Amino acid sequence: MSLILGIESSCDETAAALVTSERRILAHKLAGQEAAHRPYGGVVPEIAARAHVEILPSLIEDVLAEANVGLADVDAIAATAGPGLIGGVLVGLVTAKGLAMAAGKPLIAVNHLEGHALSPMLSKPDLVFPYLLLLVSGGHCQLLLVEDVGRYRRIATTIDDAAGEAFDKSAKLLGLGFPGGPAVERAAETGDPKAVPLPRPLMGSDEPHFSFAGLKSAVLRARDSGRYQANDIAASFQQAVVDCLVDRTARALATADGATALVVAGGVAANQKVRAALTGLAAANGLPFIAPPLWLCTDNAAMIAWAGALRFERGLIDGLDAPARARWPLDPDAEKARGAGVKA
Ligand code: KG4
Ligand code: ZN
Repeated sequence: MSLILGIESSCDETAAALVTSERRILAHKLAGQEAAHRPYGGVVPEIAARAHVEILPSLIEDVLAEANVGLADVDAIAATAGPGLIGGVLVGLVTAKGLAMAAGKPLIAVNHLEGHALSPMLSKPDLVFPYLLLLVSGGHCQLLLVEDVGRYRRIATTIDDAAGEAFDKSAKLLGLGFPGGPAVERAAETGDPKAVPLPRPLMGSDEPHFSFAGLKSAVLRARDSGRYQANDIAASFQQAVVDCLVDRTARALATADGATALVVAGGVAANQKVRAALTGLAAANGLPFIAPPLWLCTDNAAMIAWAGALRFERGLIDGLDAPARARWPLDPDAEKARGAGVKA
């Protein structure tokens, strides 16, 4: 059995966790920065990086104290090395390097997306490779066939905005606040999902990918028309996103040979309408549907420590020269998707 200290700092959550290779989460701590970013209506990279510098050391002390272990008891130190906001990634990775040097422990540079991709195994011990993963967060919207640790086949990505980004931007347009996903979901509860005719970009397309930029522009036009209530626009927008996610995932399932389960991860997986629709899709395909508990869906360090544990067990450790990477595709061989601001 091995014990891994995990560190996450790629966006606006600072987090540390201690996880064993036997899936035991000994301690996990997370500090959000919502209040610091709220005045700007989105995450400000510079503010996020400074906050990580201030908060991370005490979170690491806290998890060690809570689990009653010292650095000497840890087998390796894993940190997110990308992709993400580079200032934040640097803070976590350099902290991990310092601890690794001081304690004489190996470093594991974890791809944040691999953390999300493997996190469902933490709560579902019977989940086996390969599984189809819908990764829907603020920065990413991808369908991946998870074949093994370090082996991912990207089936689809977004050609413009990520799904969470669309929620955040639409919430801003509708004056619903930050972060946008939960705000839109709340407003949608009292709205009519059929009230506003909105597009479903790429739905039914032969191309496997996602697109949300046109939907966000349609939200802006609906708002400016003055014909609709904000809660009706929110409900109609949410329904359009759900329809797109289900359509694209259904297409991927048809091509994902041997997938044993449909798995969802990332912040948008917290959305109840998204979860319900995917539950139905998995059932229709005779597959189990697996959604990690909400705190494991959004950014956290337990998923980084867990990915670190799986890598450590396979001897996949990194040198102290491991780079921080703003972009770091999980499947470097994936065909490039068309589009201007394509997410890796
Ligand atoms: O995975 P995550 O915590 O961070 C990233 O790696 O991006 O995801 C955050 C994203 C944000 O865009 C947020 O608006 C969205 O997940 N989100 C939601 C909900 N909760 C969070 N989107 C829709 N419905 C929700 N309930
Ligand atoms: Zn994430």
